[in-house]
Amino acid sequence: MSDDRTSTVREHVLEVFRTRFDGAPALLARAPGRVNLIGEHTDYNDGFVLPAAIDRAIYVAARPRADGQVHLVSVDFEDQTRFTLDTLDDPELPAWSRYPRGAMWWLAAQGIAVPGFDAVMGGDIPVGAGLSSSAAVEVVMIELGLALAGASLSKQAIALGGVEVEHRFIGMPCGVMDQMASAMGVAQHALLIDCRSLETTPIPLPGGISIVIMDTAKRRGLVDSEYALRREQCEEAARLLGVPALRDATREQVEAARERLGDVLYRRARHVVGENLRTNVFAMALRSGGLKTAGQAMRESHASLRDDYEVSCRELDIMADLANAQPGCYGARMTGGGFGGCAVALVENGAVDAFVQAVGPAYQAQTGLTPQLYVCQAAAGSGVERF
Ligand code: GLA
Repeated sequence: MSDDRTSTVREHVLEVFRTRFDGAPALLARAPGRVNLIGEHTDYNDGFVLPAAIDRAIYVAARPRADGQVHLVSVDFEDQTRFTLDTLDDPELPAWSRYPRGAMWWLAAQGIAVPGFDAVMGGDIPVGAGLSSSAAVEVVMIELGLALAGASLSKQAIALGGVEVEHRFIGMPCGVMDQMASAMGVAQHALLIDCRSLETTPIPLPGGISIVIMDTAKRRGLVDSEYALRREQCEEAARLLGVPALRDATREQVEAARERLGDVLYRRARHVVGENLRTNVFAMALRSGGLKTAGQAMRESHASLRDDYEVSCRELDIMADLANAQPGCYGARMTGGGFGGCAVALVENGAVDAFVQAVGPAYQAQTGLTPQLYVCQAAAGSGVERF
């Protein structure tokens, strides 16, 4: 089912290219979205995360052109634009093209000479749902630019390039998780990432369970300012605790500093320290088939994000509660930055159909919103096909 959908998207992007640019593309780059199983708001604290790349991706079909211009068509935004290296930050250009332009800016800053090109971009990662469609666009455009320039970089360098696009071109102070997952994902595995050393350890997903993504249909609001504020609060808490990053703090240290930190910073630090522990517990449990323990860690993660980190919302709480109450669900939690978007659940294969049939309508009845539920497969990271 999902293989069919993915190949349809891929074929559609190739087809639109042939029609719009009257000829075959030379390259097709692909970068997947991601779902984070656990380890939320830990990446920018030098901590641990455990995302998986998913079988939803952005594709870009392209062919070089001789005049240095970029002609870019977006299937999803039903729009097209043109730019050159000299007009990358032209405010008149459409907003959706900021991410592709950011990728070109980053490549140029590395001294990589990307020629002009014709390109068609399209995919099936819902936008604004917390499944990292923007990280996928950054990664796919860096992959494409490198291939067009005849250059190559490690997947890790590509991911960090995407992060730099966010920080310096877009102005979003994100961590490394989304781009690392998109570039370095491994099929049928989640990726344990140490966000300090950037060491990645693929963890096989046990057979017999499915990852179900539940899009609340509530789109994130205020996310950028709240995100930046959380990041500042974590830095301040680390400073008061006298550690380089919250990754280095222990539960005991946080408890002992409760008064000095004050209520808000205390709770932010308690979330991060607890979440790092839970992520490692979850990874160990997944390896040993301890799914009940893994599920428990997911439920605790959600509660901590809701109560201590304050990045959940009513819709995410309802979705996670409904999911957690279903037979065959090991655990569910919000996933991604929060304030809307998606929740994720680990569900026994035999219980998935009943789970989807129960959770969707119950959520709709309580919220009036129409959710999307999908069973997803862990996919491989980004890459380029040459024709
Ligand atoms: C967003 C950011 C990530 C990470 C998550 C929260 O997705 O882009 O770097 O911080 O939020 O875990």
